[in-house]
Amino acid sequence: MSLIGAPVDRVDGRLKVTGTAPYSGDVDLPRMAHAVLVLSTVANGRITTMETTDAARMPGVLAVMTHLNAWKLPQGGRAGVNPPAGRVLTLLQDDVVHFNRQPIAVVVAETLDQAEAAAREVKVGYAAEPAILKFAEAKPNAHAPEKANQEPTDSERGHISEDAFAKIEAVYTTPMEHHNPMEPHATVAHWQGEKLTLYDATQYISGCQTTIAKTLGIPKDDVRVVCPYVGGGFGCKGSTWAHVPLAAMAARQVARPVKLVLERPQMFGPVGGRPRTEQHLMLAADPSHRFTGTRHDVFSHTSMIEDFTEPSALQTRMQYDCANVQTSHRLVRLSVGTPTFQRAPGEATGTFALESAIDELAYRLKIDPLELRRRNEPPIDQDKQLPWSSRKVLECYEQGAKAFEWSARNPAPRSMTAGRMQVGLGMASATYPANRSAAAASARLTTDGILVVRSGTQELGTGMYTIMTQLAAQTMGFPLDRVRFELGDSLFPQAPVSGGSQSTASVAPAVQSAVAELRRKLVTLAVGDQASPAFGAPEDQVVIEDGAIGRRGEQRREPAVATLARTGNQSVEAEGAAKPGDEKKQYSMHSFGAVFAEVQVDPELGIIRVPRVVARYDVGRLLNAKTGRSQLLGGIVMGIGMALMEESVLDERYGRIVNANLAEYHVPTNADVGMIDVGVVDDADPYIDALGARGIGEIGITGVAAAIANAVYHATGVRVRDLPITLDKLLV
Ligand code: MOS
Repeated sequence: MSLIGAPVDRVDGRLKVTGTAPYSGDVDLPRMAHAVLVLSTVANGRITTMETTDAARMPGVLAVMTHLNAWKLPQGGRAGVNPPAGRVLTLLQDDVVHFNRQPIAVVVAETLDQAEAAAREVKVGYAAEPAILKFAEAKPNAHAPEKANQEPTDSERGHISEDAFAKIEAVYTTPMEHHNPMEPHATVAHWQGEKLTLYDATQYISGCQTTIAKTLGIPKDDVRVVCPYVGGGFGCKGSTWAHVPLAAMAARQVARPVKLVLERPQMFGPVGGRPRTEQHLMLAADPSHRFTGTRHDVFSHTSMIEDFTEPSALQTRMQYDCANVQTSHRLVRLSVGTPTFQRAPGEATGTFALESAIDELAYRLKIDPLELRRRNEPPIDQDKQLPWSSRKVLECYEQGAKAFEWSARNPAPRSMTAGRMQVGLGMASATYPANRSAAAASARLTTDGILVVRSGTQELGTGMYTIMTQLAAQTMGFPLDRVRFELGDSLFPQAPVSGGSQSTASVAPAVQSAVAELRRKLVTLAVGDQASPAFGAPEDQVVIEDGAIGRRGEQRREPAVATLARTGNQSVEAEGAAKPGDEKKQYSMHSFGAVFAEVQVDPELGIIRVPRVVARYDVGRLLNAKTGRSQLLGGIVMGIGMALMEESVLDERYGRIVNANLAEYHVPTNADVGMIDVGVVDDADPYIDALGARGIGEIGITGVAAAIANAVYHATGVRVRDLPITLDKLLV
């Protein structure tokens, strides 16, 4: 039986539920000191006074690092910008404050309590200057970024006529959000002579290694980054933020290992978040319900020091059949921390706007919204002018609609009830690009019969340990318990960022290649080993099953490892690497899905519940039915949060996020999540890679906010175009 696709339990499950999986913040080293960040309290200006004497005298304090005494870095701390994940960071190199909650000092003490107490005694004086904090006021100065996630900023095909049989023009907004993985950012920095080891919570160990080496001006080989477990990332750990080099600088200054863990409020500002968007949509159709014009103009905020673009219009370029399409992305500069990728950057926010507009147009046309989408199914990617590698959207619509019983829906708004509750049923399409990058892996069979496979990838809680173990076991012909997959160390063969939903499609072919090469080496040894049951067999007649080797058609088998003891008693090793070819020049590769949501709305109080979500996805081949389903469930839950709860509230006077904690920044809890039925059209993508597996990390959130917004309209007749859909927006 194939292990590929099987619902194998997480191989790291026991470590996690027993609390023994070592996360970065758990690292404890001899003589380790604790660091605490001091953050700015103004949004723009200069530091005029920095009183550290009292803080430095407090018990246990080892150092108070500020712009006055910190390590002077090459290029003012900007030398690490642009290598993988290199951001524009503020690293105590000058007295300038660009945003509220910018790191301006680091206090290091013997204990965390001592560092926290001393951090409160650092007294800072500012010459504050006016900050730009009002999106609407700054919008007229919006500028075009160079790129929108590697794609052109603007696009245009055909010509949009102003006359249309039916047309929707509307503005949709999504708020500033902040990722809040259970594990906050955490770094332990340890210098041994010139060598730096970082235990860092990161989605990208090799990106962190490169960024830190360049930022500090030290050789890359002197930096090792270790991260065996990540307690959730969702994009915030895809870049190396200021606290990582600051931990390294502090550790150098006190000549001891230093641990720096961000406090929950510090997650709101200095380490990115989803930018606010304002999206202008125009969608037109002809009498046969075919789209004749689509315009999608996106404004999103960025910081004063760097451009980050939320590429919300990219999916609008390819998701539906339409000859006349215009899209644009513009950035609005605010005096806030630089935003970043947050789960399905672009598609999460963009599908809210586009899929809401399609629903609005369907009501205008008096046609079923699912049927309107079906009628505008694109035969090819009209933006790239390429055929799809595989696109099973219609299957997702059909299977999702059936499971949801969409046909039982009365299309009229406010027509369905359950007791005193208004019931609404809505749907939307989901999509996310299929990405892949170069990756490498190594494989070794030890003399005690363990297949050890290594790749410098990351485990974000997604299942990398498990699916790579399955894949290695399957490729080798070994049982799962004879395989150990190791990741999260920059000494291992390099793998890409665990972002852009690309880890599986990138790392799986490398693991497969390394293990297949190892298997060939083992077979060659066995064929030349007189005592082996495979002795003298043509190599293609040698079988390894359940760890035992033999010759096809013959009964005799022995443990595959037995050959090693008779042929030099050495482990066997192999390397493998894989990279995408030019398939992306020939095919447009995306994952797809359809999301159906039921809401129940209290007509007096406006409270919205989501008792039911049904979703079907075309993600290519799923390598593990259990962890894959969990990923998609998690994305949908995050989509429920995006639809109904998540919002970072910016104080437009001071530039501080006022709800910078999990009591007031709301995310769904178990009580907020009803039944979720997730399924996949399990069909390998013939072009992405040999396994046919596209990524599944991000598509789950896409479409969910629109499906819920559309359901809320169906329930109440109120069209909410501004996320999150809180009850006040229904009490109109
Ligand atoms: Mo994902 S937002 O690319 O980590």
